[in-house]
Amino acid sequence: MTEKISSPVSKHGIEGRHIVLGLSGGIACYKAAELCRALIKAGATVQVVMTPAAAQFITPVTMQALSGRTIFMSQWDDRTAAGVDNNMAHINLSREADAILVAPASADFMAKLLHGRADELLSLMCLARPIEQVPLILAPAMNREMWIHPATQRNVAQLAADGAHVLGVGAGFQACGEVGDGRMLEPEELLRALDSFFHPKLLAGRRVVVTAGPTFEAIDPVRGLTNRSSGKMGFAIAQAAQMAGAEVTLIAGPVGLPTPDGVTRVDVESAHDMLGAVQLAVPQADVFVACAAVADWTAAHPATQKMKKDGTGAPPALAFKETVDILATVAQSDRAQSGALYCVGFAAESHDLLANAQAKRAKKGVPLLVGNIGPDTFGRDHNALLLVTADGTQALPEAPKQALAHALVAHIANAISVL
Ligand code: CTP
Repeated sequence: MTEKISSPVSKHGIEGRHIVLGLSGGIACYKAAELCRALIKAGATVQVVMTPAAAQFITPVTMQALSGRTIFMSQWDDRTAAGVDNNMAHINLSREADAILVAPASADFMAKLLHGRADELLSLMCLARPIEQVPLILAPAMNREMWIHPATQRNVAQLAADGAHVLGVGAGFQACGEVGDGRMLEPEELLRALDSFFHPKLLAGRRVVVTAGPTFEAIDPVRGLTNRSSGKMGFAIAQAAQMAGAEVTLIAGPVGLPTPDGVTRVDVESAHDMLGAVQLAVPQADVFVACAAVADWTAAHPATQKMKKDGTGAPPALAFKETVDILATVAQSDRAQSGALYCVGFAAESHDLLANAQAKRAKKGVPLLVGNIGPDTFGRDHNALLLVTADGTQALPEAPKQALAHALVAHIANAISVL
């Protein structure tokens, strides 16, 4: 039985959300312009609300141009807000929001929120929001001394206890010239944090181990065998599992990709190193996703010095041996056999995807095998997957790897919930 689904794209992320983006006064307002663009690019709609202090740092004209909506700055503004003419922007704007994101949230603004003060539109709107339906997310931004001041730390803790989601801060060079903690997170980090916020925590409390990328099998100190896997699919799965609430360990072969937020990364080079790292991590895991394109062969006798041409034109005599099959080894373990560890394999094929994936699922002894056409996807940002289980197959048509990763994580979460 092959069940086709029309689109694997998750509706749980930022796409289609309506965000009220609040700006309080701080130099980090300059990042709010980029954030606004990024939110819209990711498929959200954005209504900007600014405090008068924020307007000292960035003009409402800039934010209007980027959001495509007029800006609200005052509770006395009698324009129609959210289609309602009752002169209550603080009510109307918050009622249609999926979330209020205050970025930057200054020290002063957070102190105000803490006390339930409401002397300008943004704080009034935060106070008047339906607390159960409209989450309030704060992205603090301030000088490092202000950030570590006990008053600020007390306020942050109390705001979190009151139900706000207070994001972390970045470290580094500050506009004041000092160096330390307190910078607002970068627009891209804020976008990912918000996207993650909207994903259901299907894997909360679960531990997931993912392998990704190629391996590199040294022939001598400068040469080796590898393959064209970019690691993008495995990294996307690690990020999606983390967004779904899992504690994720990503065991990565040599790739140049940034570590997904909130994921523990272990870098390895050879299949042998990858096996060792996996064996350390899986005894605590609930899910093992073997996405890496592990080399099947490694040099039997790697040279300790660079091999030189001997002048005869004859190539060197290289001998290879098979690597240990990491996935099959883990799948044979007691925990995997008892169902405590759910194993997911990948099959990178060049042809006959269904037959090869079904055969590989049986050969590896795993409950779920994910097939894809290697040459169509290696190094690219899109892929198409075929999920093969004992019950049948499910095709996930071509989509960005992130979207496929979320769909795969949802499938895994569902499978382990019924075990
Ligand atoms: N795999 C592994 N360890 C290996 C080889 C492969 O863990 N030494 C895992 C991969 O991470 C993937 C799955 O096995 O999840 C299938 O990998 P693939 O290279 O497609 O299959 P092979 O077992 O190598 O079979 P073949 O080369 O015959 O297609």
